[in-house]
Amino acid sequence: MMTKAKIGSGVLGILLVLLTVISCKHEIPAPLDVELLRLAQDTSGQVFYHFSDTLLPRSAGSGHPQALLRTWYNPAAAAFLDSMGAVVPDTLFTDGAAIVKELYTAPGVLSLYAIMLKRSDHPNADQDGWVWAEVEPSGEVAIPSSDLGAACRGCHSQSGHIDFTLMNAYFP
Ligand code: HEC
Repeated sequence: MMTKAKIGSGVLGILLVLLTVISCKHEIPAPLDVELLRLAQDTSGQVFYHFSDTLLPRSAGSGHPQALLRTWYNPAAAAFLDSMGAVVPDTLFTDGAAIVKELYTAPGVLSLYAIMLKRSDHPNADQDGWVWAEVEPSGEVAIPSSDLGAACRGCHSQSGHIDFTLMNAYFP
């Protein structure tokens, strides 16, 4: 015969299983995406497009619903900016170059980092050496780098791109 204690522990067991199932639905970000988030949050040496950190209204071609954006380059990527802070035509970014588009729903409300990292030896690099990801400031991964840019490359290879980058085309 089941005692009250046994029934109680049975219920507890079921609850534990349920909790585990529910918490597993929130996938733990892969270490490679955590690395990309760190990169997007490392503002040391960042250089903004057109040398301006002003938020820009989203362009008609933007792949994102957020109203505002700004784009910056790490030192390795900024080496390919001209005297106006735009990307030099025909640039092929070299390994280590990182470009971060910050997306804001409103001034001061950062909602997403869209990240491009050139690193041909990266496990998640595409055939052109780019690693693509979208990560929220909270660490929630919107598009993991393991997708190899499947959601990004099509749009980013449109005419006028420079090594798959589009700021020059949309913000000349
Ligand atoms: C429908 C088109 C479209 C898609 C899809 C898209 N983007 Fe973009 N992206 C743009 C445009 C246009 C710009 C130029 C800035 C703007 O207008 O938003 C841009 C700019 C960027 C930049 C700044 C560097 C530059 O000059 O291009 C990064 C980084 C970026 N996108 C990352 C991504 C990632 C990562 C994905 C996929 C997860 C992605 N984008 C998908 C259209 C797109």
